[in-house]
Amino acid sequence: MNYIDLRSDTVTEPTEEMREAMKTAPVGDDVYADDSTVNRLEEMAARELGKEAALFVPSGTFGNQLSILTHTLRGDEVLIPEDNHIVIHEAGASAVIAGVQLRFVPATRGIIQPEELESRIREDDLHTPRTGLICVENAHSCGAVVPLDNMAEVYAVGQKAGIPVHLDGARIFNAAAALGCPAKEIAQYADSVMFCLSKGLCAPIGSIVAGTEYFIRRARKNRKIMGGALRQAGVIAAPGIIALERMRGRLAEDHRRAKALAAGLSKLKGVTVFSEQLDINMVFFTIDPGVDKRDRARYREAGDQLARFLTKELLDRKIKINGPEGQVYRFATHYWISDDDIAKVLTCLESALADFTRKNAQNLHL
Ligand SMILES: Cc1ncc(COP(=O)(O)O)c(C=O)c1O
Repeated sequence: MNYIDLRSDTVTEPTEEMREAMKTAPVGDDVYADDSTVNRLEEMAARELGKEAALFVPSGTFGNQLSILTHTLRGDEVLIPEDNHIVIHEAGASAVIAGVQLRFVPATRGIIQPEELESRIREDDLHTPRTGLICVENAHSCGAVVPLDNMAEVYAVGQKAGIPVHLDGARIFNAAAALGCPAKEIAQYADSVMFCLSKGLCAPIGSIVAGTEYFIRRARKNRKIMGGALRQAGVIAAPGIIALERMRGRLAEDHRRAKALAAGLSKLKGVTVFSEQLDINMVFFTIDPGVDKRDRARYREAGDQLARFLTKELLDRKIKINGPEGQVYRFATHYWISDDDIAKVLTCLESALADFTRKNAQNLHL
């Protein structure tokens, strides 16, 4: 890649080996279950997660929404933390596709207190929606990993009430690397699991949904309804096989680099790293724009100005970053980011911040 791209691990391009595998993959019509590459990928994925069956889907959002549709009835209520990807970043799809309403459960970095969950399960009553599903996320997209004992507690609440649990495990292999356990130890606390082959695992396209044979048979039908039944999909499943075979084992390297980046960032003037959400390949931090925080409007304006300045300065040095969300920046490490890249980012950011401070002090228009 020509740029150091810290915007996300979704920017990862396929490796040469993946491109080669795409060229040579045996294919067939997957709607007839004739694509041996897709079949192989689905079997591998089910085995990795300790589930009976798995299904290849075009994206993580597709996999989450397909799972919600398959678990629930129209009008059901889904219990979920308000900062989960399904709530914030899937464009309201659960209301459109499954026709469910989302009810928020308080959570801290993905950790749900079992009593809070239990107290929100509806009684069977004419007036209330049915509680149809509990959704959890691990690794959480805030960069934290949910401990296994909390997953077990949440699952136990679901089991006791007869409510299935869906795990948005877009980065389940990052969570597994951080916890030092196989992914199936995390997946055991969910009835269905979605994970992404793209993102940190580097495949260009695709995600997996896994669960019981019965669940996956119904999900396969719903995938057709959603327009996600593909034909010679082996071409895109082939890099997914390499992702599972070769890429899982190296995710700890991305985590190590994220920690190195965080350590370097925290030495820069005005930077505060959120160290309690630094379990995987993401670093969240704020940068003080050098204005009194109590003047909120000015503080926000200075923060926006700083963000515009940094984004442009770094882009000029071939480093891509996203602007902050609510003043919080996120840098993600991945396969295409090296130790040298981390060092370059820190040097460039330090000098850009010094430039900003100097120009601000001179009251220059930025
Ligand atoms: C936690 C989480 N779930 C789901 C998704 C959705 O994946 P996709 O972008 O493939 O739809 C993402 C994407 O970044 C994610 O971070």
